Amino acid sequence: MTLIAQITDLHLRPSGLTCYRVSDTNMLAERAVNAILALEHRPDAVVVTGDLTDRDDPREYALARHILAKLSMPVYLIPGNHDTSVGMGAAFSDYPGIKEASGEKLYYTADIGSVRLVALDSNVPGKPHGQLGTVQLDWLSKTLGESDRPTLVAVHHPPVMTGIPHMDEIGLSDADSLAEVIAPHDHVERIMCGHVHRPIVAAFAGKIMTLAPSVAHQLVLEFNHDTRSMFNFEPAAYFLHQHTPLVGTVTHTAYVESYPGPYPFWSDEGVTWPGDTPE
Ligand SMILES: [Fe+2]
Ligand SMILES: [Fe+2]
Repeated sequence: MTLIAQITDLHLRPSGLTCYRVSDTNMLAERAVNAILALEHRPDAVVVTGDLTDRDDPREYALARHILAKLSMPVYLIPGNHDTSVGMGAAFSDYPGIKEASGEKLYYTADIGSVRLVALDSNVPGKPHGQLGTVQLDWLSKTLGESDRPTLVAVHHPPVMTGIPHMDEIGLSDADSLAEVIAPHDHVERIMCGHVHRPIVAAFAGKIMTLAPSVAHQLVLEFNHDTRSMFNFEPAAYFLHQHTPLVGTVTHTAYVESYPGPYPFWSDEGVTWPGDTPE
């Protein structure tokens, strides 16, 4: 079994600062890393799908390095709209994948157990929306044609309309071109995204797109067109993508915080369920 943990939208701030006044993103990122380290089955890799920092500040990247250094497995990063390719590339030039990326954009492949990760860079400097561009899409087309290993494609901006209007305005602008490239490839088992700070599943190009919630604050679920973007503290979570050759990829949600339990399912002493024969 291959197990990949996906954490996203950490929005780290310089040490000692909170994000948007009330979100202690630095603490929550540390807790997410601790939760992964406490898993009984150790993931083979961790994929961070963007918005690692909140403001592309070198101090935020430095803190990210410090927090991620606790992870004992390979960590693969892609930028979101709050990062920049240049800033992340400079801060993590020794990280797997980024090390091999050519040019400023951080797209690359990595073999993780039985699957292949294809990491894409949708960052557009200074803009909140995402775009891959023709050079990267040509590379993706060639790359997907090279191998039929089960493939997970990671990209920060979701290529589907989520139904949350203010987020759909800042989605992936060349999603149609991405769909054309991906559709013919049956071995693409997932499109792994972030950006929306909510768990979302949708079809894309005949594949399954899973969008992971943030390990910090979440987006208020709102389908109205005239509503402003707001956040809340619904449970911080991350995904565990489990791959087995027989079943393919199964995506589980795991939580950053701990909750009451575990409790056994059997009943109290002397209490019987309807239909049980008393001893
Ligand atoms: Fe984000
Ligand atoms: Fe984002």
